[in-house]
Amino acid sequence: MSNLHVLDHPLLQHKLSILRDKHTGVKEFREIATEMAGLMCYEATRNLALEEVEIETPVAKATTRRIAGKKMAIVPILRAGLGMVDGILQLIPSAKVGHLGLYRDPETLEPVEYYCKMPRDIAERQVMILDPMLATGGSAAAAVQILKGHGCKHITLMCILAAPEGIAYLHQAHPDVNIYTAAVDEKLNDHGYIVPGLGDAGDRIFGTK
Ligand code: PRP
Ligand code: URA
Repeated sequence: MSNLHVLDHPLLQHKLSILRDKHTGVKEFREIATEMAGLMCYEATRNLALEEVEIETPVAKATTRRIAGKKMAIVPILRAGLGMVDGILQLIPSAKVGHLGLYRDPETLEPVEYYCKMPRDIAERQVMILDPMLATGGSAAAAVQILKGHGCKHITLMCILAAPEGIAYLHQAHPDVNIYTAAVDEKLNDHGYIVPGLGDAGDRIFGTK
């Protein structure tokens, strides 16, 4: 699938195995989720367009390059996506941040929206949705639909872990959306959890279990 980018950099794989470990505590989990988001951002922004600018160094005039055109926005899906925000903002400090509250109904596994606050100019920005887990794909597909409803045209999803079911679902619903992930796991279990996965990302980031 051409819009699936599995980032298999050794640093990401090493950090992911720490996240997966059930003995990893809240503090370390948070720190590593932040670090992984930063490393993934480095890869996911590889193809941003550049433009030439004239500047003066202390020594001479120079033609250098900076990022051209559209600015970026990041949209964490609450709660767990919040654990990736700082890692991105360390690299792209001027990105605007929209917040989208979705939770999965435990019975139906369908996403339920409970909060949405977007930057006013979100439609003019390249948007990166942040959510560590792409499981059934319901939450990510709903997030893309909501952002398209706000007029967004350039949307990518950054997740730490993905299940094949979620990738297929999102791709079918929104084939224009690029997916960046550090790994594609085996499957979902009967409760919609990724196997082997890392458990409930929100609970592990916020220490709620
Ligand atoms: C988790 C995760 C995703 C969603 C993925 O959130 O952070 O948003 O599940 O599952 P899906 O692909 O099947 O939709 P959850 O609903 O547990 O909410 P939380 O972040 O508040 O814990
Ligand atoms: N949400 C999580 O936090 N973990 C999973 O494995 C699936 C959905």
